[in-house]
Amino acid sequence: MLQVEAYKKLSIPQCPLIKQGKVRDIYQLDNALLMVATDRISAFDFILPTPIHTKGIILTQISLFWFDFFNSAIPNHIIEHDFNAFPEFLQPYKSTLEGRSIIIKKAEVFPIECVVRGYLAGSGYNDYIKTGSVCTIKLPTGLAKGSQLPEPIFTPATKADEGHDENISFEEAAHIIGTENANKLKNMSIEIYSRAREYALTKGIIIADTKFEFGVYNGEIILIDEVLTPDSSRFWPANHYHIGKEQPSYDKQFVRDYLESINWNKKPPVPELPVDIVSKTIDKYKEAYHQLTNKNLI
Ligand SMILES: Nc1ncnc2c1ncn2[C@@H]1O[C@H](COP(=O)(O)OP(=O)(O)OP(=O)(O)O)[C@@H](O)[C@H]1O
Ligand SMILES: [Mg+2]
Repeated sequence: MLQVEAYKKLSIPQCPLIKQGKVRDIYQLDNALLMVATDRISAFDFILPTPIHTKGIILTQISLFWFDFFNSAIPNHIIEHDFNAFPEFLQPYKSTLEGRSIIIKKAEVFPIECVVRGYLAGSGYNDYIKTGSVCTIKLPTGLAKGSQLPEPIFTPATKADEGHDENISFEEAAHIIGTENANKLKNMSIEIYSRAREYALTKGIIIADTKFEFGVYNGEIILIDEVLTPDSSRFWPANHYHIGKEQPSYDKQFVRDYLESINWNKKPPVPELPVDIVSKTIDKYKEAYHQLTNKNLI
């Protein structure tokens, strides 16, 4: 059983903090990186002041499940996920790090987000309503909010350091990373999404869309970051799926609904979350893990 403590930023000389994303903290190790998923949650592009206790562990374990699922087909960035095999100097931080940390290969990250969509939702739906296309990919007429697409489409986005990522066409992606790389990332992304979607459906989850990141390590393209979690994807419960309306989801639904209900103006200061919203959100993340893996965490 994990001894779970709230995540506190490490401050140890052997591994300086080199990057903080919205959710993950990245520390430099000798020849590698230590990636720690914190309990931070973001909504409407803001990090909320209230942590979602154990969320980082659940996200890490879902990613590890998928890395393992694709292990023989898709090379990835994992070096070590077993905390007991981490370097000696990290062992005193077991209760803070175990379950939420992975030692990873430091990749040269492609500066695009590899989004795959199998259903019409979010910015894809808005784009379709305006233009009949998603990221310049023409779609059949008559699709509704939540409709399944004839086949999964690759709709890359820029990686914005601040604020919203911006959807771009395949040609623009090819311009940024080269046509050969863009084709490779597109094919890998669609293949991973399609296989994951098929599997998740057998577990009662529709993966409506998702975002991958890739990098290059020793000349090879590898899958990095987090994979097919409720933070990087839209997970919908298959038994509540209805075309033509907003679908309930496995992740930030309660958080977004709460923030809308208090009419927050989406400017700082960012409001705290009440305890019942936090615990409902934790339960949703746990449920996603349990449904996908048939295992219980923590
Ligand atoms: N193997 C790797 N090598 C180098 N950088 C990595 C690797 N895996 C992940 N990263 C980077 O680590 C960071 C992870 O942090 P986090 O997921 O919180 O990022 P973010 O981009 O701010 O948030 P979001 O995922 O919501 O866009 C990202 O910048 C990602 O590109
Ligand atoms: Mg990320």
